[in-house]
Amino acid sequence: MFRYVDGRLWCEDVDLAEIAERAGTPCYVYSARTILDAYKTYDESFNGVPHMICYAVKANSTLAVLSLLARAGSGFDIVSGGELFRVLQAGGDASRVVFSGVGKTPAEIEMALANGIRNFNCESESELAELDAVAAKLGMIANFSLRVNPDVDAATHPYISTGLRDHKFGVDIHEAPAIYRRSRVFSNIRASGVSCHIGSQILDYSPILEAAGKVLALVEELQANGFPIDHVDLGGGLGIAYKSADRAPEIGDFVRALKERIGRDRLAVMVEPGRSIVGPAGVLLTRVLYRKKTPSKEFVVVDAAMNDLIRPSLYRSHHDILPLNHAPDTPLVADVVGPVCETGDFLARDRAMADAQPGDFLALSSAGAYGFVQASNYNSRPRAPEVLVEGSEWRIVRERETFQDLIRGERI
Ligand code: LLP
Repeated sequence: MFRYVDGRLWCEDVDLAEIAERAGTPCYVYSARTILDAYKTYDESFNGVPHMICYAVKANSTLAVLSLLARAGSGFDIVSGGELFRVLQAGGDASRVVFSGVGKTPAEIEMALANGIRNFNCESESELAELDAVAAKLGMIANFSLRVNPDVDAATHPYISTGLRDHKFGVDIHEAPAIYRRSRVFSNIRASGVSCHIGSQILDYSPILEAAGKVLALVEELQANGFPIDHVDLGGGLGIAYKSADRAPEIGDFVRALKERIGRDRLAVMVEPGRSIVGPAGVLLTRVLYRKKTPSKEFVVVDAAMNDLIRPSLYRSHHDILPLNHAPDTPLVADVVGPVCETGDFLARDRAMADAQPGDFLALSSAGAYGFVQASNYNSRPRAPEVLVEGSEWRIVRERETFQDLIRGERI
């Protein structure tokens, strides 16, 4: 949905320069159509198999984005009480919510139970005990899946790989049968599934299929032992193309491969995609402030920084940088840096890019996932606004923070 029309970068049917000028920069812009297309591709490709797409809220939790997905029928994967609050505020259906995460607090568990969420993906035996205690207090039965660690290598960045034996996530798959067995002493929880999630930005999905195979073997064993397992939750993780040269898998191919691997009726499948739904749908718009040259380098100083988009600094990740106004290129190789006072504040290093001059607008592409949600107020920079484009319409769905927002709740 992002393409050049007569040398100008458009999102759906809107010229992005118009948004940059009217909403100011830095500014996140999302294409509603791209988000909905990705969601629908997941949903439709699972045709014929009972399934639930639980969008991973952590990737982008803006109300307008959640509301789009809720209206399309999506479920949600949450990892905190705050995310549950957002989902409910956006009109999401609690009975289509699963709660993941290694450190749910008793208060979060209670909030989730009281709102009637579908399932808890539990990550330890002591969490099962807590879930049972809270459910007993409320006089309820809580559905749980144990998140198992299948010990497969997702072959992605070490910070976002989660399925190896020494990671903090899940329980060792070999210990899972005994934990399910011991969970029988708890009378307020019910073993309804098995879950796993091996990592994020996975470009070769064969490790996910391998993990699914191991999870299915466990499900068979549990069902044979009388556990009421009715679903598997295979997590998220499908990667996207950050560089034009990247070859990202098609969502439809991935889902069909999963279906083939699972291939059993009655067992429902859940997935928790985040990045593959919202990542390609967003850009971060920024304006060039200055150009400068040192004896060894050329710098493009822009008004967006690591506090707006931390992925390049944190993971050395690549986001293509596109000029909003495409002029015939004088090739430039430069570092694109922001105003934050850290050498680690860069959006790109040694990047071949358009010869952008002060005042020009640029777009950092594929910034819809883990962009705004990881933004901070570091250097007392107000967080950027967010804009949603739908066809030829666009609107600000989150206002730019003000200086007053920066000190909200503070006392001297
Ligand atoms: N389910 C669970 C249990 C997860 O931990 C995650 C992501 C997802 C689903 C969604 O994964 P996705 O489909 O988006 O790959 N901040 C990092 C990514 C962290 C991912 C954490 N967990 C980044 O900017 O790349």
